[in-house]
Amino acid sequence: MTAEYQAHGDVAVITLNNPPVNGLGLDTRRGIVDGLERAQADAAVKAIVIAGAGGAFSGGADIKEFGTDKSLQEPNLHSVIGAIEQATKPVVAAIHGVCMGGGLELALACHYRIAAPGCNVALPEVKLGLLPGAGGTQRLPRVVGVEAALNMIVSGEPVKSEFIGAVPGQKLFDRMAASPGSLAEEALAFARSVADARPLPLVRNLPCKHPEGDAYFQFARNMVKGMARNFPAPARCVDAVEAATKRKFADGLQYERELFINLMWTPESRALRHLFFAERAASKIADVPADTPQREIRKVGVIGAGTMGGGIGMNFLNAGIPVTILEMKQEALDRGIATIRKNYEAQVKKGKLKEDKYQQRMALLSTTLSYDDLKDCDLVIEAVFEELGVKEAVFKQLDQVARPGAILASNTSTLDVDKIAAFTRRPQDVVGMHFFSPANVMKLLEVVRGKATAKDVLATVMAIAKKIKKTAVVSGVCDGFIGNRMIERYSQQAGFLLDEGCTPSQVDKAIEKFGFAMGPFRMGDLAGNDIGWAIRKRRYVEKPDMKYSKTADLLCEMGRFGQKTGAGWYDYAPGKRDAIPSPVVEKMVEEHRKALGIAPRKISDEEIVQRLVYSLVNEGAKILEEGIAGKAGDIDMVYLTGYGFPIHRGGPMHYASEVGLFNVVQSMKRFARNPLDDARSWEPAPLLARLAAEGKAFA
Ligand code: 3HC
Ligand code: NAI
Repeated sequence: MTAEYQAHGDVAVITLNNPPVNGLGLDTRRGIVDGLERAQADAAVKAIVIAGAGGAFSGGADIKEFGTDKSLQEPNLHSVIGAIEQATKPVVAAIHGVCMGGGLELALACHYRIAAPGCNVALPEVKLGLLPGAGGTQRLPRVVGVEAALNMIVSGEPVKSEFIGAVPGQKLFDRMAASPGSLAEEALAFARSVADARPLPLVRNLPCKHPEGDAYFQFARNMVKGMARNFPAPARCVDAVEAATKRKFADGLQYERELFINLMWTPESRALRHLFFAERAASKIADVPADTPQREIRKVGVIGAGTMGGGIGMNFLNAGIPVTILEMKQEALDRGIATIRKNYEAQVKKGKLKEDKYQQRMALLSTTLSYDDLKDCDLVIEAVFEELGVKEAVFKQLDQVARPGAILASNTSTLDVDKIAAFTRRPQDVVGMHFFSPANVMKLLEVVRGKATAKDVLATVMAIAKKIKKTAVVSGVCDGFIGNRMIERYSQQAGFLLDEGCTPSQVDKAIEKFGFAMGPFRMGDLAGNDIGWAIRKRRYVEKPDMKYSKTADLLCEMGRFGQKTGAGWYDYAPGKRDAIPSPVVEKMVEEHRKALGIAPRKISDEEIVQRLVYSLVNEGAKILEEGIAGKAGDIDMVYLTGYGFPIHRGGPMHYASEVGLFNVVQSMKRFARNPLDDARSWEPAPLLARLAAEGKAFA
């Protein structure tokens, strides 16, 4: 049983005890109902307290149970709530730490609530593509008001208990405890003080009205339109809260339940639930136990103050960790520091950063031209030119000066981390930390695990990534790691689509309609087409039989590197970023097609999307099978946080599983028969073929 029963004189205490956050799984629900029955059967008990063990009252329904039999088994959350409301003795919720989702709904069914300060109170179901399904949309407006409740439900954001407790007229908390430490005692005393109160108050009996209901809900619907573009849940939250103001309580509850069940089956909710678990699972490494000791990171060194080095440094400054940046020349240092200042000043100007915080961060930054100044750093991240010879010189010098146990990281995006590690006498301390540009903004960090990388180094880097608010995903060593290795297949397909009849804007529009933040050609223009050109030139030598469209090279030969040169796949007006379809580029593509003797054909948006996305999936399956990625969810996290893959699709691997791997493989076989495509790259990865044949998914 994961809810414990204890009698404290005339008060029975039911303590939810289902770590880590007292999720309301089947055993916990059973425990609550059993406790209620026992307390009511005991004549000595006058009142009941429901509390949470550990750091939380309750984080809500047990998300792991969703979609399983357990979530349906009685007592379900509704039955538990019914049992609380119908209890013949007063039930008091003693709330601390976390009170979210079904946890808050359970508390709202209690006759009384006492809360400790510092508790995070929320109905976060919308973040899982759902709405509160156990009365939250009907009861919360009755205790905090319609507008405050709708704000909480539509945003899913937590509000501090002491903030709610201080709002005049609120009925969510009957009492505020002085501190989390005194909550238990105060809850017992409060329960005794209401032991004889009759009738027992119920939130459901409180009125729920908005003085200008129709106008307000119309306004609310307009407000959620933007955030609800790809997600049905926010608009349904508005519907449910409106029902609370217009229907009888029981009808509103029934309506909320129907909406909840419908949302539970949407692909958007499945994608968000997948994301919730994938995000948490990404920080866990199969052979690195959670209790692996970590090295202390008190000071960080960054080598190279270019595009990446400055942004990397900012991450640590933002987290209050001192940074020393090293460069070859004073001018390069000055340029790098000026960029950091410019970035911070832009944040100050927009009101996103306070002036004093900016000054505090800059005070943590020092610069140097000498390796000696890195000798007391606990972590040094190299972000110099992408040339093995340059990296060699840097790592050899670092090896000379860095203190024993310091972690030596490389931000390389294409080079072999094992080779870099071999430049030192301490390969166990070397790791890849592949940030994405702009490094102070992008969430993704690929942590590249070398052959020799020590487990405590990995554990430390994963922990520091959390501290600097990055989503860290572990990748093995291979060309391009997880993200860039996959994107190469995607770019290859984008090129073939041009050869076969598409324009750049047709391809971009199709994949943007699917939900990508930016299509491949707009992305190329933003990142700089010359970067891919340099990589392809290397590939032509390394893999001479690999097929590519020549259009991207022809574009670069025209000097059209993208936004930075004012022209790329698109034209750009001076100082503007709007992509304008370019007649010059379209002519180049047409002429190239003619030279190849290809008669253009009309290509559907569906084919464009499938070819781009399935090319990612197939390479992802290879990456998974080779052990470069530990889990399919890790690949999804890379694409969701680093490559603009639409959140509501859940990442390429999740999306493929939703489509059905059998169907994905069938499409791939069809694409392989296209003589203009690269049949070899459509050969299904063995893992994908196997799972498809077995009717299984990646997860
Ligand atoms: N069910 C099951 N497990 C949960 C959970 C839940 N509701 N909430 C958190 N967990 C698990 C996480 O998966 C994680 O497990 P792991 O250690 O095995 O990876 C662990 O708890 C710790 O979670 P975090 O890493 O997120 O820890 P934090 O301390 O940063 O945050 C939290 C704690 C604020 C509770 C955060 O986990 C959270 O926001 N959880 C989601 C809460 C939520 O969405 N509740 C609504 C559920 S839906 C519902 O109630 C339906 C109802 O309306 C009918
Ligand atoms: P950059 O050219 O903007 O900056 C490199 C900086 O390193 C320059 O300021 C240069 O003066 C300095 N430098 C060169 N050799 C040095 C040395 N021996 N000692 C000290 N400083 C030295 O390059 P960028 O774009 O910042 O790339 C750096 C690294 O990050 C590369 O390995 C690159 O592959 C990787 N990377 C780049 C991304 C990008 O989008 N630019 C994304 C992810 C990784």
